[in-house]
Amino acid sequence: MLGNEVEYVTESVTTTWVSTAGSFTSRFERDIAAYVGARRAVATNSGTAALHVALLLAGVEPDDEVLVSDMTFIAPVNAVRYIGAWPVFVDAEDDYWQLDVERMAEFLKRDCAPQNGGLVNRSTGRRVRAVIPVHLLGHPCDIDPIRELAARYGLVVVEDSTESLGALYKGRRIGSGGISCLSFNGNKLVTTGGGGAIVTDDEELADRAVYLTTQAKDDPLEYIHTTIGFNYRMPSINAALGAAQFEKIDERLASKRETAERYAQGLGGIPGISVMPQAPWAKPAWWLYTIRVDPSRYGRDSRALMRGLASEGIMSRPIFEPMHKSKAHEGMQAIGGEVAARIVDEALSLPSSVGLTEEDQQRVIDSIKEFGP
Ligand SMILES: Cc1ncc(COP(=O)(O)O)c(C=O)c1O
Repeated sequence: MLGNEVEYVTESVTTTWVSTAGSFTSRFERDIAAYVGARRAVATNSGTAALHVALLLAGVEPDDEVLVSDMTFIAPVNAVRYIGAWPVFVDAEDDYWQLDVERMAEFLKRDCAPQNGGLVNRSTGRRVRAVIPVHLLGHPCDIDPIRELAARYGLVVVEDSTESLGALYKGRRIGSGGISCLSFNGNKLVTTGGGGAIVTDDEELADRAVYLTTQAKDDPLEYIHTTIGFNYRMPSINAALGAAQFEKIDERLASKRETAERYAQGLGGIPGISVMPQAPWAKPAWWLYTIRVDPSRYGRDSRALMRGLASEGIMSRPIFEPMHKSKAHEGMQAIGGEVAARIVDEALSLPSSVGLTEEDQQRVIDSIKEFGP
């Protein structure tokens, strides 16, 4: 679904303004903010970098704790560790696979206590500072009760919206109304090759994000620094690609939705296959269409189906290992985890790229039918 990509990238090259100083960086930021419905967006060179800086903006410090969805790609958990803070994993709920708000509430009520104006985890004695709900696979978390809980207990919410650009929560665009992070990695709805953004209504936080992502330089001319900053800002040549893709975001999203509808119709009746759920509060972006396989009814499990599809030249893939099982984050506290583990065992993500042809998609559907009972 090509638009002005070649034209804008060429403009970036021929004007030689390829770096972060080029005009596409700020133009892309305006596009993002306008689309999401936030006052500011600060473009970074990855979603992971956006999360790292957003946690710093949220005031997370070494040895603090941050609640994070157990079922997620590893990046937000790594970002917590970059600061020297500690993740506490919160299980997923079984219906829509998102952060389980009841588990979170239970933990905050039962296992934490107010102390010195903050909240302390009774079992570790550490301050609990923030929560990262991950809007997983293009589907929004139930963000209102998460925000209410966070406000009640004095936590800052950093939304990981990297997989869910374009999704709506109760009619509002994901990414608005707080501190939210996006990704423009190669497999995302809009890509800059690699990239991300921090989105917020808070001008001061946004200015601070620009400062931190550009090596925290304190003087426009002299190389004076009072803080350790990062080289995290998105170069203009990448933003040029993103600006062109953003012009077609509605079409890109429509393509995802059509793909999701066809999968739901084509796979809905197969015994043992559950199509991707949609919560009453959600209009998902359908980033990565994912099914669940019940081996007792389908006759093979998700991994056997994955191998079967591979034998037909169709790529599918498992979703992310639940974080409480990750060796990289061994020994961290987890609130539950059984639900996430079960979903991950049963889940399989299907081809979902923008522009996937109906013919190719039909081949996926037919193969899943064929391998079934
Ligand atoms: C949930 C989640 N968080 C963070 C990221 C990190 O984004 P990036 O790859 O742009 O660093 C990704 C994926 O790429 C993701 O899926």
